[in-house]
Amino acid sequence: MPAMAASPPLLLLLLLFVSVSTAHLHRSTHRVFENSMIGPSTIPPSTFFEVTKPISVPDSTPCSTLLLQHDFAFTYGKPPVTAPYSFPSHCPQSPPSKIVLEWTATSRGRQFDRIFGVWLSGVELLRSCTAEPRPNGIIWTVRKDVTRYSSIFARSSTLAVYLGNLVDSTYTGVYHVNISLHFYYHGSDHSSATPGFNSPADLILPISRSLPLNDGLWLPIQNSTDAQSKQVRIPTNTYRAVLEVFVSFHSDDEFWYTNPPNDYITENNITGLPGNGAFREVVVFLDDSVIGAVWPFPVIYTGGINPLLWRPITGIGSFDLPSYDIEVTPFLGKILDGKLHEFGFRVTDALDVWFVDANLHLWLDGKNERVHGELVEYKAPALEQSSVYKFKGLDGSFRRNARRELSATGWVNSSYGKISTHFFQKLEYENLMVFDGNGSVQVINQTTGSHFGTYVRHPSSGLYSEQVFQAFPLYVYTATIDHANDSYSMVANLSRGFNEKKLLGEQDGLVFSSLWNLQDSQGEMRVKGNLVTSGVGGSKQVYRYESTGGCYFRNVSSYNYTLLNDESGASCAVSSLFGSENLFTKFLPYPTRRASLSLELGDVEKGD
Ligand SMILES: *[C@@H]1O[C@H](CO)[C@@H](O)[C@H](O)[C@H]1NC(C)=O
Ligand SMILES: *[C@@H]1O[C@H](CO)[C@@H](O)[C@H](O)[C@H]1NC(C)=O
Ligand SMILES: *[C@@H]1O[C@H](CO)[C@@H](O)[C@H](O)[C@H]1NC(C)=O
Ligand SMILES: *[C@@H]1O[C@H](CO)[C@@H](O)[C@H](O)[C@H]1NC(C)=O
Ligand SMILES: *[C@@H]1O[C@H](CO)[C@@H](O)[C@H](O)[C@H]1NC(C)=O
Ligand SMILES: *[C@@H]1O[C@H](CO)[C@@H](O)[C@H](O)[C@H]1NC(C)=O
Ligand SMILES: *[C@@H]1O[C@H](CO)[C@@H](O)[C@H](O)[C@H]1NC(C)=O
Ligand SMILES: *[C@@H]1O[C@H](CO)[C@@H](O)[C@H](O)[C@H]1NC(C)=O
Ligand SMILES: *[C@@H]1O[C@H](CO)[C@@H](O)[C@H](O)[C@H]1NC(C)=O
Ligand SMILES: *[C@@H]1O[C@H](CO)[C@@H](O)[C@H](O)[C@H]1NC(C)=O
Repeated sequence: MPAMAASPPLLLLLLLFVSVSTAHLHRSTHRVFENSMIGPSTIPPSTFFEVTKPISVPDSTPCSTLLLQHDFAFTYGKPPVTAPYSFPSHCPQSPPSKIVLEWTATSRGRQFDRIFGVWLSGVELLRSCTAEPRPNGIIWTVRKDVTRYSSIFARSSTLAVYLGNLVDSTYTGVYHVNISLHFYYHGSDHSSATPGFNSPADLILPISRSLPLNDGLWLPIQNSTDAQSKQVRIPTNTYRAVLEVFVSFHSDDEFWYTNPPNDYITENNITGLPGNGAFREVVVFLDDSVIGAVWPFPVIYTGGINPLLWRPITGIGSFDLPSYDIEVTPFLGKILDGKLHEFGFRVTDALDVWFVDANLHLWLDGKNERVHGELVEYKAPALEQSSVYKFKGLDGSFRRNARRELSATGWVNSSYGKISTHFFQKLEYENLMVFDGNGSVQVINQTTGSHFGTYVRHPSSGLYSEQVFQAFPLYVYTATIDHANDSYSMVANLSRGFNEKKLLGEQDGLVFSSLWNLQDSQGEMRVKGNLVTSGVGGSKQVYRYESTGGCYFRNVSSYNYTLLNDESGASCAVSSLFGSENLFTKFLPYPTRRASLSLELGDVEKGD
């Protein structure tokens, strides 16, 4: 799209979210398919999907309601599409035990991948990316468990959906969208004896932009000094608070993990290649204190690197971007004064543009108008980072490492008694980037590892702990060959994992889950100008979820739009192991026992 490239900034913005990037020197972010590549319109619509475990719902028919039906045509830079919401009168008025949001969309023609968000009362429910259509049409469905937002569904408010689409004679795909809610009654999940844990918040305050506006409600962060924030006043009877952060990255930072250091770019006189190195983190502030950080999973949207990789199995997280929780409870003592306080975000080394917002989940003391609290201990040392690189001309290697630790301990005295809370995050990052073949080959090997959690001491229920371990390995190999005139071929091999273990421990036992979600993708394409003229791609994915509450397994692969194998099941391979404490010590070389929780919380007693 040379015409686009020469356009003023506003027009460039129109295409922020389209992808196809060769990730290195020949990076061009906007490309579509030549007619011969997009297939005949006579074959039936393709169903695209993201591999994920089914939502466990009570065995009963849900009460359903259509929230919005809309055709997203030329919606870029327009206000979000809105609809009034109130709890459906035809549904039972008792509190539902499970709520599922369902997004279904169809599209036909040619269109880029578009990021979109769904907000209710300013609270973000879903951040997602559209699938790229074909002439014969596509359909895809995203189902998300939204039970944690129950308090929002109980009252009347406004639904807002922003999907910045552009339709003209080339990009013909209009997105026809239905959004529904399904309320399930009866049946219940594991509930905790510790108030505020494993039950939805009583109130959720949005840390996002307010309507009316001509964009999504997310806060755009354009560079490393840009700080975006919102002031909120929390009720004085709040006894627990969790900030749920949504992030997505676009344009110059869409493939941040492939960005080389600026020295490489300037010494080689390269233009149009985004830099700032390959490390990014979203730093979260409360007033002037850092209260946590988000080291994001590298979501690749449906047009990313080589769009042929993601058909019909889409990239991990692309249809339902992960959100990241930060326990704010230890800091409550500082914000229970009934005054305005500021929640803010920065992105370390950011390039234009990151979309960040958050939901502040609050649990309120029903018997007490004023809860008091105090922050007893707080440690937030600066980010530790190092980089080592050597390069000659366009070839070289770059290593980047980073670490961050943060912890906070505090207490609140609610009508439940005095609750002590300890929150911690330990984050580690490593990225090795190699350029070879005079810059025509780029290899990335990156891992992000996190260990975070909350320990609580409660007068009635005793000790409670939540711990999460995450590992996000990423391997990207791209090679550009036969570069001549306006054409080139690109081979791309990718491998990614979203691996997570969760451990909840309390007086009456332990709840454990582990997820191994690994995706390997390979493809090649020939590109002329902005058109993909030929190519083929596919992905293999193995998803293994095991927990004390049930298991799910899927092994699926695709090539050239066709599923090659698809095996799934719900049996637990190692179910006999669950319930045995040995399992946890085997899996987790970290303190998980009560003795060590007491150790962490011991300081609270000294401090109050
Ligand atoms: C949306 O809902 C309407 C009415 O139920 C239905 O006719 C239409 O096919 C649905 N569209 C999609 C994309 O599911
Ligand atoms: C960073 O972004 C902000 C917000 O757009 C802008 O005001 C500021 O000038 C930018 N700073 C730099 C150094 O570009
Ligand atoms: C970059 O540009 C400068 C100034 O024009 C020139 O001296 C230098 O040789 C160029 N370097 C490369 C690698 O092309
Ligand atoms: C909490 O502590 C404050 C100050 O120490 C005290 O005034 C208040 O009565 C306590 N509230 C409860 C519910 O224990
Ligand atoms: C490497 O690439 C640069 C820029 O494309 C080119 O000027 C140079 O001649 C190439 N070097 C070799 C050894 O091919
Ligand atoms: C990536 O690096 C890790 C060590 O940091 C190594 O174990 C792994 O084999 C590498 N992966 C690839 C595909 O090279
Ligand atoms: C590049 O374009 C020129 C002019 O159109 C043509 O003569 C030449 O054969 C092309 N080179 C390749 C390798 O396609
Ligand atoms: C990329 O994938 C292809 C196809 O599986 C394989 O032949 C090739 O060895 C891979 N290359 C790298 C560098 O991973
Ligand atoms: C997934 O299925 C493929 C093809 O049937 C098989 O070769 C592979 O071993 C399976 N992987 C796992 C982890 O079951
Ligand atoms: C991909 O599928 C199309 C038909 O949909 C077929 O024409 C083409 O030859 C296939 N390509 C490969 C490499 O298998």
